[in-house]
Amino acid sequence: MISGETTAGAQWWRSAVIYQIYPRSFADANGDGVGDLAGVTARLPALEALGVDAIWLSPFYVSPQKDAGYDVADYCDVDPLFGTLDDFDALRAAAHARGIRVIVDLVPNHSSDRHPWFQDALRAAPGGPERARYMFRDGRGPGGDLPPNNWQSLFGGPAWTRTFDADGTPGQWYLHLFDTSQPDFDWASEDVRAEFRRILRFWLDRGVDGFRVDVAHGLVKAEGLPDYTPDPHAGSMGGDEYGVPYWAQPGVHDIFRDWRSLLEEYDGDRALCAEAWLPSVEMTSLWVRPDEMSQAFNFAYLETPWDAGRLRAVIDESLRAYGAVGAPSTWVLSNHDVVRHTARLALTAENPQGHGIGPDSPGRPIPELGLRRARAATTVMLALPGSAYLYQGEELGLPEVVDLPAAARQDPTWARSYGERYGRDGCRVPLPWEADAPSYGFGATHAPPWLPQPEGWEPFARDSQERDPDSTLHLYRRLLGARRGARLGAGTLEWLSLGEDSVAFRNGKVTIVANLGRANVPLPAGRVIVASAPLSGAELPPDAAVWIAAE
Ligand code: NOJ
Repeated sequence: MISGETTAGAQWWRSAVIYQIYPRSFADANGDGVGDLAGVTARLPALEALGVDAIWLSPFYVSPQKDAGYDVADYCDVDPLFGTLDDFDALRAAAHARGIRVIVDLVPNHSSDRHPWFQDALRAAPGGPERARYMFRDGRGPGGDLPPNNWQSLFGGPAWTRTFDADGTPGQWYLHLFDTSQPDFDWASEDVRAEFRRILRFWLDRGVDGFRVDVAHGLVKAEGLPDYTPDPHAGSMGGDEYGVPYWAQPGVHDIFRDWRSLLEEYDGDRALCAEAWLPSVEMTSLWVRPDEMSQAFNFAYLETPWDAGRLRAVIDESLRAYGAVGAPSTWVLSNHDVVRHTARLALTAENPQGHGIGPDSPGRPIPELGLRRARAATTVMLALPGSAYLYQGEELGLPEVVDLPAAARQDPTWARSYGERYGRDGCRVPLPWEADAPSYGFGATHAPPWLPQPEGWEPFARDSQERDPDSTLHLYRRLLGARRGARLGAGTLEWLSLGEDSVAFRNGKVTIVANLGRANVPLPAGRVIVASAPLSGAELPPDAAVWIAAE
């Protein structure tokens, strides 16, 4: 039970395990084929049994759903697809009653083109205050026929779209780093700043415990909007390069400082978590200085391949860089934008973040190897000091869905890249709850889920996993229970040396060993607390990890 809405001063987020819910794919209570808030509330007991500290809800706000809700038309109301504000209040109260905190998504880089402000801006004359809330510019070249600069949308195609004036003549262009339906705000506008303060207060007043901040590296663009040609192999959220005129501009930090002081006006302990795809952990640590965000996603960790040396290096670097600014490191392996780690860790070809994998992608993963590595990777992650993010379905060992029919794909990346990038649908397929129910228990009726679920998912359904003591679900529960018991999230890491191909460390009284090589690794003596795979006597086989109670 979380009393007084949130407990003061505990900085709960420093060591919390936060479970990401992608509402449209979690549980569908009204049976329309799309998950909803009432579905989340009904399934909270499963999350309590799993042992998570908090949930983060991806957007459920009023939206035309052109980017699955990351295109918001009204930041202070619930889209009817997901329910009502009363449903949100009920969910928040039910989660708190079970001791689970609630973080919501804040999308400040852009709105939907259906947002009333953008509609006003389209109707207004160039140069007026309505247009100053977004990035409207005159085009280049004769008649302004060319876009204001050469920026490309992260989903493919140009980042500028031309508008038409009231008399039908072509007019100014507006910037959209993502889909055409996601116009970028201009954070130089005081209206925008004031509006987001209002939005923060709206949700804080409703008792949320914090915000995950979308595209937190992109709000401010470089003066003059200079041309920039990104590396063609960069991931779709960007962040692989330095000096990008739409990422990591110094002005973003004032915005976060403003929000942080606003959050501190509230009782309890509310968190801000930055989604910032930046080229290094070092740079990301600037987002979590003491008066800015509470934490930032550790995408460098997520992007680390299955390689012992690189894994040790990124853990070291993360603890050092975040520690230097007094922030906890976070750890994450999967989310709604990346290939699930059950597939990613066994890919044999390069796969830039956000590109997805499909039927003819090179280097398709072997599912058994991917699952084995994913279980080992999670066993390492949940032993690390700091806060860990889980993505719905990973506790079931859910695979990436590779064979979605082209006509079913919904990620705008797929259409905007003319099918060149599969995009992110493969990790967003609705969850299986019951092996023998229609839509595996995702929906209350026979309505087809918004993305088709593959055949053969019975073993991944929660009830199947419940019955199997060796299932990934039971592994996650054991890990979370032992993590809490030994207070590993608040611990410190001390490296052990067990050979080049292993990752071995001690956190308090627990010794953690992972084998990323090809030969067995002899284990130190001690009682096995939890193992990701069966051991070979006193040795750890390849692609496995274990927690041992230090003697
Ligand atoms: C990051 C979100 O995680 C992703 O799903 C979305 O498409 C972009 N930001 C744009 O909002």
